[in-house]
Amino acid sequence: MNFKEIAENRYSCRAYDPARTVEKEKLDQILESARLAPSACNGQPYHITVCKGEAAQKVAKATQGMGMNKFASQAPILLVLSEKPYVKTAALGAKVKGNDYRSIDIGIVSAYITAEAAALGLGTCILGWFDDKTVREICSLDEAVRLVITLGYPKADAKIPEKKRMPIEELVGEVE
Ligand SMILES: Cc1cc2nc3c(=O)[nH]c(=O)nc-3n(C[C@H](O)[C@H](O)[C@H](O)COP(=O)(O)O)c2cc1C
Repeated sequence: MNFKEIAENRYSCRAYDPARTVEKEKLDQILESARLAPSACNGQPYHITVCKGEAAQKVAKATQGMGMNKFASQAPILLVLSEKPYVKTAALGAKVKGNDYRSIDIGIVSAYITAEAAALGLGTCILGWFDDKTVREICSLDEAVRLVITLGYPKADAKIPEKKRMPIEELVGEVE
C-alpha cells in the first residue's frame, strides 16, 4: 500500500475478531515504525506498554467508564502510550515557545502506529477516554497515560466506514 491507500484504509476499528491473535512479526513491525517516528529534539518523550491477555482485559475495562469503548474488550492487544520527561532541549523549547511538544509527539507516534497497522491489515482505534490512575497501576507506570490504542484483526464482516471530514477549502488556507 502507498501512503494514500494507507490513509484511506485506516479507520477507527470498533469490531475485532477475538479469535485472531496478532502475529509477533506484525507487532514488532508496528513497534519498529513507532520507534522511527519523529519527535521534538528527537526526545521520544513517551513509553509504549504492550498489554496482552489479562492486562489487556484490565486496561480495556479502564477505558469503558460511562458505557464508552465496549469494543476494547475484543481487542487482543492494547498499547498504552504514557508520557516521559522531556529531554533538556525540548523542555527549553517548550518553555520558551509555550508549546506542548510532548502531546504533539505522542500524536505523531500514534499516527505511525495506526498507519503501520493499517498497512499490515490490522485494525486500531485510538482511545482518549480511560481512567489514567487505573491504567498506570495495571502497567506500573509513574508518568501520565496519554492514549490507549486497541490493536487486532477486524471482524471478517467489518467494513471501512465512509470518511467524514471537513472540506479541503475549510481545512487548508494559503498565503503568499
Ligand atoms: C486523541 C483521540 C482520542 C480518541 N478517543 C476515542 C475514544 O475514546 N473512543 C473511540 O471510540 N474513538 C476515539 N477516537 C477515534 C475518533 O473518534 C476517530 O479517529 C474519528 O472519529 C475519525 O474516524 P476514523 O478514525 O474512523 O477515520 C479518538 C481519536 C483520537 C485521535
